[in-house]
Amino acid sequence: KKLLSIAIDGPAGAGKSTVAKQVAERLSFIYIDTGAMYRALTYKALLKGADLNDGRELEIVLNDTDIKLVITDGGQAVLLDGKDVSEEIRTSEVTNNVSFVARQQEVRTEMVKRQQLLAESGGVVMDGRDIGTHVMPNAELKIFLIASVEERARRRYEENITKGFEADFELLKSEIALRDKRDSEREVAPLRKAEDAIELDTTSMTIEEVVSSILHYAKERA
Ligand code: C5P
Repeated sequence: KKLLSIAIDGPAGAGKSTVAKQVAERLSFIYIDTGAMYRALTYKALLKGADLNDGRELEIVLNDTDIKLVITDGGQAVLLDGKDVSEEIRTSEVTNNVSFVARQQEVRTEMVKRQQLLAESGGVVMDGRDIGTHVMPNAELKIFLIASVEERARRRYEENITKGFEADFELLKSEIALRDKRDSEREVAPLRKAEDAIELDTTSMTIEEVVSSILHYAKERA
């Protein structure tokens, strides 16, 4: 019997990756971080000085780009043309530019194709913005995670402080709100809850509560 496919979408900082990773681990599924793929391309395009508003130019860069999500001792790593860029793709420069790259049709067509190949045999938890609506429209379980912008900024703030980075709460809040606006208002595959997705507001939930709730739904559908 084919294993389940689980789609987890939602705005920036709603806890998608943390939750998706843990759900995948508990089910022995593969976790696929699609945001990391858009980030890796953005990082490379910035390095090359490509025009982030030129879909055709980005497509040419992407066609010559290998992006791999691999398991390491510490968790997951993102390999861009064989080089580990896991940290580089999380800088605020990449974070604040990724929405421009991700709004290009040419980029999305190729990314979705790669993501569908990775998800082909099921047994995957994939997180992003358009997974339930475009990448895995037939996923057995679709979750749409939301949380207030205050709470999402607070989580990002704590994460940065813990990692020893500088953080400005108000700035983080406005950057998150702006990225959500760009991701929701773009023409191609905007951030949107799939009709058949279950919405979970995680504002006052712990990670463990969100994870067990998703595992409960997964069990129902297995
Ligand atoms: O999930 P993460 O915050 O790392 O995603 C970074 C960006 O990549 C998002 O803000 C969005 O612009 C883009 N993205 C997307 N579609 C996805 C995943 C991410 O457009 N499936």
